[in-house]
Amino acid sequence: MSQADLSTSFRAEFDANSQEFCLAGVIRPRSIEEIAPGVSMLKEAIDEVRGVLYINVRRLVQMNNTAFHAFVRVVLDACRTRSDLRFVVVTSSVVGWTTRMFGHLNRIEPQITVEVYDSTFYPGQSFVENTSFIPILRTQTKMTWRHERTILPRHGMRAGIAMADICCGIGDFAVLVQKEFQPARIVALDHSKASLAYARDVAAGFGITDIEYTYGDASEMLLDDNQFDFVSCRHSLQIFNRSDMLLAELYRICKPGGRVYITNEKNSHCLGEPRSQSIQWTYNEVAKLFSHFEMDVELGPKSRRYLADAGFDDIVVESFMVTNLDGDPQDFADVITAWEKVYAGEMAVKRGDSPEFIQRFRQGFKDHIFAALHPKGYAGWPIWVASGRKPL
Ligand SMILES: C[S@@+](CC[C@H](N)C(=O)[O-])C[C@H]1O[C@@H](n2cnc3c(N)ncnc32)[C@H](O)[C@@H]1O
Repeated sequence: MSQADLSTSFRAEFDANSQEFCLAGVIRPRSIEEIAPGVSMLKEAIDEVRGVLYINVRRLVQMNNTAFHAFVRVVLDACRTRSDLRFVVVTSSVVGWTTRMFGHLNRIEPQITVEVYDSTFYPGQSFVENTSFIPILRTQTKMTWRHERTILPRHGMRAGIAMADICCGIGDFAVLVQKEFQPARIVALDHSKASLAYARDVAAGFGITDIEYTYGDASEMLLDDNQFDFVSCRHSLQIFNRSDMLLAELYRICKPGGRVYITNEKNSHCLGEPRSQSIQWTYNEVAKLFSHFEMDVELGPKSRRYLADAGFDDIVVESFMVTNLDGDPQDFADVITAWEKVYAGEMAVKRGDSPEFIQRFRQGFKDHIFAALHPKGYAGWPIWVASGRKPL
């Protein structure tokens, strides 16, 4: 791979193996001369590749007209001389201007196309970014917070720190942490526009102005390295299909000596009495259903290995069981109702399951609710908490 550091904030790279030319950072030259090495690299890339040249601008935060015209001129000239070549500009909705600006090129030159890489970038995306997922997040955090508020200090949470909640969903965890622990700074990032809109509404309703809600891709964040004392990522490594990429990013933004805190489930271990067999059957099926969409809701006990493989030390792992006895049993029942709606009502339908399967699948959730609300019943949902320190 060749690389040119054209200024502190701008990078150009060409990877011959993947035929990808990448521009990242802020590129605002006063004259073309300042970016001449990058422009030459693009010309050399064009000479070298066959078929398709990918132009990756997913992390291109800003570009002025001087730079845009310099790079685009090279591509347009190549379209004239190389009818065998196609150009695919890969943008991200996180830096939305790139899609608009590069999108015009396709109208001038059909050899150039634009792909927005994060429009469908992981298999579970259509479910978790949907508004129908919001009741799941709302009811879940209400139940888990009772446990996490006492657990968090053992994993590095304390007053005055800088923290980031990555894959924050509707941002309720950030609000609770702020009230309980008073960190100095909280960034809360997610890729669901529906969840972030909800989060901002809730924050406005409570007069909260100092949580930085941010739209972004957790696997390729625009946040700087080594910024946060504490980075949380709850119930999300099990959702995004490249947990290694997420962990690498959590590691990157964490300060040396800081901690990354993750929570995950093992759904097949959800339990209840009475009607334990039906409940057990349904949650085994939940795990299979998620795995069909490349999500691993059995990840919880694998957390230690995942953190170790990502380079963390001083790893601490513990688990807790959310139960119907934690508070009002109806709160537990509300979580299950929200799961049934999305898992049986949307995901199983999308997988193409038969009405008979879906009916039996639903029955396990109903039986879990029955166990939770039964005067002598017991219902549980186990969670694994793990954190690791970024070495100094
Ligand atoms: C199960 S929810 C958990 C939300 C929240 N942490 C909680 O515990 O309530 C998973 C969240 O991860 C987000 N997510 C998944 N992959 C992501 C990615 N690559 N970048 C940003 N957010 C992502 C989804 O939008 C969703 O809000």
